[in-house]
Amino acid sequence: MGYKITIDGPAGTGKGTLAKSLSEKLKIVNVDSGSLYRAFGLYAIRMNLDPNNIEKLEEALANVEIELKEVDGKLLPHLNNENVEEYIRNEEVAKTTSKFASIKQVREYIAVRQRRLAEGRNVIMEGRDIGSSVFPDAELKIFLNADVQERANRRHKQLLEKGEIISYEKALNMIETRDRADMTREVSPLIKTEDMIEIDTTNLSIDEVVEKAMELVKMKGLI
Ligand code: DC
Repeated sequence: MGYKITIDGPAGTGKGTLAKSLSEKLKIVNVDSGSLYRAFGLYAIRMNLDPNNIEKLEEALANVEIELKEVDGKLLPHLNNENVEEYIRNEEVAKTTSKFASIKQVREYIAVRQRRLAEGRNVIMEGRDIGSSVFPDAELKIFLNADVQERANRRHKQLLEKGEIISYEKALNMIETRDRADMTREVSPLIKTEDMIEIDTTNLSIDEVVEKAMELVKMKGLI
């Protein structure tokens, strides 16, 4: 049996960066659960799926295979055996994914794969409902948070670096829309449970966030 570290929190708090850094320090597998959802979002775009047509959606779920497979030491999303990492990190996929991530059947489909990935090994997994719903028994549950303006700032910078020219206001609007979708959905909404330990990253550097998280790892006796 391995131990599990979960990192939940809203978009733009640095969950991905923290998970990557911790996984390198602790030499454990890092599972980016958003990439599983995004792979499904890409599939939904390609298949022209409608989030309101549940019958068609169930049929699609029965016929698709989404997995994370190791490529050069990294776990990358595969859609029906195709490595789709390079197609999922854009706003079109993020937007569609968000619509489908609120559907019970989609969450159940992804949760089965998330649990499979954690079988028999130490893992760190980040997402929106990992500590609250996928692994309620995790040894350490972190909730990352930051002011919405700061998160919009970070997302704005990230997008500009990727060559997507948008205004700060648009980035803020995107983050607020994502927050609403993630926090108000009926199935497994983004919540901070009592046993999660919050780190507010608004005024912290990445190194400071990692340092705080490592203190928690030690406190829980995982190293
Ligand atoms: O973390 P991310 O931006 O890659 O997530 C992409 C989308 O998937 C986003 O709409 C939230 C959703 N998601 C989710 O609902 N649950 C997770 N555990 C991870 C992501």
